[in-house]
Amino acid sequence: MHEDLANPHWWSNAWLKHYRRYMSQPSYQAYYLYCVLPKGVGTILELGAGSFRDVAQLNKWGYHCIGTDFATQAVEIARKLYPRWAQCFQVEDATALSFGSEMFDLSYHNGLLVCFNDNSMIERILQEQRRVTRRWMVCTVHNALNSSLKCQFAEKAKHDPLYQIRFFEPDEITELMRSLCSRIDLYPFGSLWCNRLIKYSRNRFLVRWYYRLTYRIWQWETCERIMAVGWLE
Ligand SMILES: C[S@@+](CC[C@H](N)C(=O)[O-])C[C@H]1O[C@@H](n2cnc3c(N)ncnc32)[C@H](O)[C@@H]1O
Repeated sequence: MHEDLANPHWWSNAWLKHYRRYMSQPSYQAYYLYCVLPKGVGTILELGAGSFRDVAQLNKWGYHCIGTDFATQAVEIARKLYPRWAQCFQVEDATALSFGSEMFDLSYHNGLLVCFNDNSMIERILQEQRRVTRRWMVCTVHNALNSSLKCQFAEKAKHDPLYQIRFFEPDEITELMRSLCSRIDLYPFGSLWCNRLIKYSRNRFLVRWYYRLTYRIWQWETCERIMAVGWLE
């Protein structure tokens, strides 16, 4: 784990360098979230939104989604890129959010917890996420069972600290969320065929149909991430 990953100034510079590459990819988290989204979700919050592409996508689909990040530059780039939803993007530290208790039906983050080696930091973020969320909290983390992905990241990390992240086993993320949730469901995120369907069809209904039909037989060892859905009621 690289200590820079916990520094908002480092991330502001990193986003100047990386946002074009992120923007060239589909908003995978928005699609995978849509595949498992429970009925009755209206308001959504993203923590550590980075490129803000998923928040923008969810808003396009009609959800009321607020995106936050502690890197000022990330928020400024996103406001320029998506002027229609600029007022939905805010600078916020995930350990001390300005929102009132249980303001959002659902909250999520993707690739945020992987920035921290220290479980006490992760616990602070999860407690704050729980405080502002009414019904479901979603945590997407990189999958430690995928050894080929870990090798690819280790190689890239030699040149860029962005890739020096923590990977999680399914039990590890479950354990971290356990005291805050009444139930936790783990979903696979990022298989070759589903990613291709997202990339080439961009049809969320088709993607959800395919996901629900097949996700139970996906091999964890080949999935990129683990999407942990915690139930709060
Ligand atoms: C790997 S990036 C997430 C990328 C994002 N999911 C996307 O698809 O664009 C991690 C993000 O978490 C943010 N971050 C790290 N620590 C944070 C904190 N304490 N509060 C808010 N944001 C934080 C970083 O600024 C960075 O944008």
